[in-house]
Amino acid sequence: MAQKKITVVGAGNVGATTAHIAATKNFADIVLIDIVDGLAQGKALDIAQAGSIQKFDCKVTGTCDWQVTKDSDIVIVTSGLPRKPGMSRDDLIAKNTEIVKSVTQQIAKYSPDAFIIVVCNPLDAMVYTASKVSGFEKKKIMGMAGALDCARYNYFIATELDVSVNDVQSTLMGGHGDDMVPLPRFTTVNDKPLTELLSKDKIEEIVERTRKGGIEIVNLLGYSAYYAPAAGAVKMAEAILTDNKTTIPCCVYCDKEYGAGGYFVGVPAQLGAAGVEKVIELDLDADERILFEKSLAHVKELVKKVGEML
Ligand code: NAI
Ligand code: 2OP
Repeated sequence: MAQKKITVVGAGNVGATTAHIAATKNFADIVLIDIVDGLAQGKALDIAQAGSIQKFDCKVTGTCDWQVTKDSDIVIVTSGLPRKPGMSRDDLIAKNTEIVKSVTQQIAKYSPDAFIIVVCNPLDAMVYTASKVSGFEKKKIMGMAGALDCARYNYFIATELDVSVNDVQSTLMGGHGDDMVPLPRFTTVNDKPLTELLSKDKIEEIVERTRKGGIEIVNLLGYSAYYAPAAGAVKMAEAILTDNKTTIPCCVYCDKEYGAGGYFVGVPAQLGAAGVEKVIELDLDADERILFEKSLAHVKELVKKVGEML
């Protein structure tokens, strides 16, 4: 069987790290593409040279030429401006809509059967952009954010309880913004409900820190996070390429699901060979539903703005 092919668009912090993590999994050849001449080529060469040490032998190619990306199975879109201190994810909307639009046109031209995993911010609106511009089946388009937000939430819980992060199970919903909805009622640690392990105030503190998890790192670094975001994107690609049916919180198309009415928004979704195979419908209580609807309303506003730009 031919080796699978993943294209990562954007060879910046998230893109190059995504390419590296994906290469270490050795489940697909990797193409890294950027508009800056030499950037993707240099980083791809460096990643490929790690293969001898890290024991992977997939091909890793850097390019500025879309022809090289032809017939990719998955395209991960990280080409976009990242935020700087003082900026919200929404401040990126005009420039990133333009970039995601032009990149999606190339994806549709060269890899019309690909799955698209969008990473650029504002995430939910950029997933909508990729869907609108490509016209691909909706179950083949998704956004990476929930995997990252959940990883942050799990890390904060594990640190607080001094347990392995592998013992925390949780999920999270809503848009990738400050109104995302971590779900303590659906969080367990070694099968015990989180609500029995930590006080209400401590849980609220962790939820709030998760919501602000992106800006916490921007304020430390001066630019945005990339190790955990890249790991989240590769986890999604792996679920699709290996058909492992993992449920991952991610931004997917929801119509009747959660009464979303035809928007891409963060929900727990099972990923496999068909892309988004199932949206997991949790039985939200009234408070959780209100929080989800508030977050969805924000996503709708962003989509409206993008709609005016496309
Ligand atoms: P970066 O600035 O390090 O990299 C972006 C790269 O995209 C640059 O190398 C740039 O040359 C390239 N690029 C721009 N236009 C392009 C085009 N038309 N074709 C190909 N390449 C192009 O930025 P970073 O930190 O990698 O972030 C990328 C995006 O991901 C940002 O929008 C950021 O906000 C977002 N992000 C989203 C996360 C999430 O959870 N969804 C987490 C972290 C970042
Ligand atoms: C993050 O959450 C900036 O969306 C990016 O780190």
